[in-house]
Amino acid sequence: MSKPYYITTPIYYPSGNPHIGHCYTTVACDSIARFRRMQGYDVMFLTGTDEHGQKIEEKAKESGVTPKEYVDEKVAVFKKLWEYMNISYDRYIRTTDDYHIESVQKIFNKLYEKGYIYKGEYKGKYCTPCESFWTESQLDENGCCPECHREVKEAKEEAYFFKMSPFAERIEKLLTETDYLQPKTRAVELVNNFIKPGLEDLCVSRTSFTWGIPVTFDPGHVVYVWIDALSNYITALGYENNAYDDFDKFWPADVHMVAKDIMRFHAIIWPAMLMALELPLPKHLAVHGWITFNGQKMSKSLGNVVDPFVLGERYGADAIRYHILREMALGADSSFSNEIMINRINSDLANGLGNLVSRTVAMVDKYFNGRLNGNFESGDFDDELIAEASALREKVAEYIDKTQINNALAEIFKVVSRANKYIDETAPWVLAKDESKKARLGAVLYNLLEAIRIVSTLLWPFMPTTMPEIWRQIGAKEDDVTYENSGKFGVLPFDVQVEKGAIIFPRIDVDKEIEELNAIISANKPKEEEKAEIEVSPVGEEISIEEFAKVDLRVALVKACEKVKKSNKLLCLQLDDGMGGRQVVSGIAKWYSPDDLIGKKVIIVANLKPVKLCGVESNGMICAADAPDGSAKVIFPDQSLPCGSKIR
Ligand code: ME8
Repeated sequence: MSKPYYITTPIYYPSGNPHIGHCYTTVACDSIARFRRMQGYDVMFLTGTDEHGQKIEEKAKESGVTPKEYVDEKVAVFKKLWEYMNISYDRYIRTTDDYHIESVQKIFNKLYEKGYIYKGEYKGKYCTPCESFWTESQLDENGCCPECHREVKEAKEEAYFFKMSPFAERIEKLLTETDYLQPKTRAVELVNNFIKPGLEDLCVSRTSFTWGIPVTFDPGHVVYVWIDALSNYITALGYENNAYDDFDKFWPADVHMVAKDIMRFHAIIWPAMLMALELPLPKHLAVHGWITFNGQKMSKSLGNVVDPFVLGERYGADAIRYHILREMALGADSSFSNEIMINRINSDLANGLGNLVSRTVAMVDKYFNGRLNGNFESGDFDDELIAEASALREKVAEYIDKTQINNALAEIFKVVSRANKYIDETAPWVLAKDESKKARLGAVLYNLLEAIRIVSTLLWPFMPTTMPEIWRQIGAKEDDVTYENSGKFGVLPFDVQVEKGAIIFPRIDVDKEIEELNAIISANKPKEEEKAEIEVSPVGEEISIEEFAKVDLRVALVKACEKVKKSNKLLCLQLDDGMGGRQVVSGIAKWYSPDDLIGKKVIIVANLKPVKLCGVESNGMICAADAPDGSAKVIFPDQSLPCGSKIR
């Protein structure tokens, strides 16, 4: 019986249309799932959508439909994209599915009965515009809402809490002493930021909105969306429901793959929930970085969301799959740019693989009328090609075990390059001129077909649409392209028949393409007035000119700047304020490096009461504006203004 293998993507919020970022995790999991199937595992590949919560409720309201109608429409787009990208998921979970709702209610009750969930009072800070509760430690460095940076007020709400502290020690061990988290370098940051300061109990119910799973024994409460969402990984297998019966077979999961933004939920809260339920923990959590666009986070309001349908239409799903998989290194961000993508498609797929296939098939066609004659004479350069191609499978498998897909692909393309080099070294067109070299020519072409067979078999999990066309052209049959045979050289018959076909990856005209893509991006960019409509927050309470005059705004020059230790948000700036200088701490480290600011003039609130942030004294505040992508943009005044100039 084959071994079970369970892999999951996050379940995505259908609060907008999917973009290339969502594609990354899904395509990566799909490739691993396909690879494992090829290796003979009995695979369960799960994906789905996370459909509850306040955001969805609000979006539906804006669109004038019910939340369920809203998510139904979006889920259809996600599913269409997965079909388009050739995603071979085995199960698709929607958190609005009845069986999931039933299971989550049972899970919540179980945790309550075991004493891990208790009723309390949520005392915290409330941001009215965002309708969100925050704990003290979640506030930004100015004690304001971490999302919109406006003032928050004291608030109380009756709520249920999940006790986290009983699991702190086990979770710390899980992160530091096991290889649960990949890459492990991230464990330190989690332990230092969340576990060492003491794990706070988690508020796991809400009463301020209704679009969620009701708590059965207290119907005014809905289950916190992360408890609802994380449970999907087990409810989809039939845990606490009768819809499926796969829990014993597939749990614990082999890999949960997520991006870094939701690592904390999967590295701390999810293990704590499973520990409380006395269930085994997943084997691996693979965390990848963000796909950014021209250096910025993808965001609808920036108009830089890369529409996978548009790209797929132009280059084919496989080229997109290849590009995103090849660019992203586990753990690091990867910058998406149309130019990098097109160059990558041209160099690796068109010039590298495509050329190898078309040259080889064309030569068999030309010199042997499409069928090798069975004569074979070994010669120079063969051994190296054969050795590299034969060893490829093990190298790729090793990288897949470590979820390092980009490295697996790099190995495969080394063999593609090796094979192209072999053509140059052996010069078949010279051999073809001499009838006595026919057997050598046959061997060269055979070796090339074999290298292509191995490479294309191992590439199939990553580019499942195109590889069968390559197999057709090189005359490989189904049995020739198995995992087993991808570890062997010499599988095709010596009189293999090839078939010329269409160009596999046509070369793209870079300049023309970039121009066209830029035109599409500009056309999709929200118009200025639409942007304003989306982003402008309500004007605050009216004040008098005297009140405004109390705020002393000045121009200052950044003379020195460095990151505040123990904080990934704060920068400490030394300013020339025309009044002897001062030190200001600002929460802009996520968006600015010290070098971006040194030598620039900024605007400061000069008469703000001094405070200590992360133990560092701050005398004033740097003025910045909220950008549509959630970042802060420092306001740079006219650089010719002298330090200390007053702003009125
Ligand atoms: O967080 N680059 O859903 P979500 C790379 N519902 N990956 C990206 C990306 C980008 N620019 N943008 C999104 C949620 N992703 C929760 C998850 S799981 C129990 C609940 C991918 O729709 C990445 O995998 O915001 C990230 O973790 C996921 O989408 C978050 O998707």
